Amino acid sequence: MNWNKVINLLDVCRLVEFDKKAHPLHDQLTVDEYITWLKSGLEVFSLTDDTHWIGSYQIIRKDEDKIYFAGFAVHPDLRGQGRGQEIMDHIIKEFGHKNLICKTRENNIIMKSLLIKNRFFRDHDELVSEDPNDHWTWWTRFPSSNT
Ligand SMILES: CC(C)(COP(=O)(O)OP(=O)(O)OC[C@H]1O[C@@H](n2cnc3c(N)ncnc32)[C@H](O)[C@@H]1OP(=O)(O)O)[C@@H](O)C(=O)NCCC(=O)NCCS
Repeated sequence: MNWNKVINLLDVCRLVEFDKKAHPLHDQLTVDEYITWLKSGLEVFSLTDDTHWIGSYQIIRKDEDKIYFAGFAVHPDLRGQGRGQEIMDHIIKEFGHKNLICKTRENNIIMKSLLIKNRFFRDHDELVSEDPNDHWTWWTRFPSSNT
């Protein structure tokens, strides 16, 4: 399996197709939106075998000591087999010497479980609408958790 960085238009088109399978509609971006984000510093990585996208994640390097990640996903046919943990291990290996920050929805039980398992701390909540389940929960993992 290989890690690849999304760099050209073909990669972005593949990413958009992957997102359609991996994320709910309200969390999907268009090709144009991705291109705008990539120009402003978003980095997107995919885990692939010879032919298929297995998973992906995105990072934004906002401050010297902070890495924001998003777009964390495993192909629906491959979930529950340790791939999500494999992606998380990779993120921690690459960026775990900085504060890792991400947000996920309150009702995303699986992602919240994965974050807690990997020593992320619930930082704060961000209201999105009147629906109590439709709000972001923000999570941080500190470099000291590596030991
Ligand atoms: C979240 C996601 C990446 C997990 O990937 P995965 O390959 O299924 O995860 P893994 O098999 O590696 O499991 C890792 C951990 O996730 C949690 N988990 C996985 N499946 C779960 C389930 N059905 N119920 C509860 N927790 C679960 C557990 O903590 C698990 O650790 P454990 O096996 O020691 O219990 C995947 O479900 C996904 O792509 N979801 C849709 C996209 C998404 O919501 N991304 C997060 C956006 S912030």
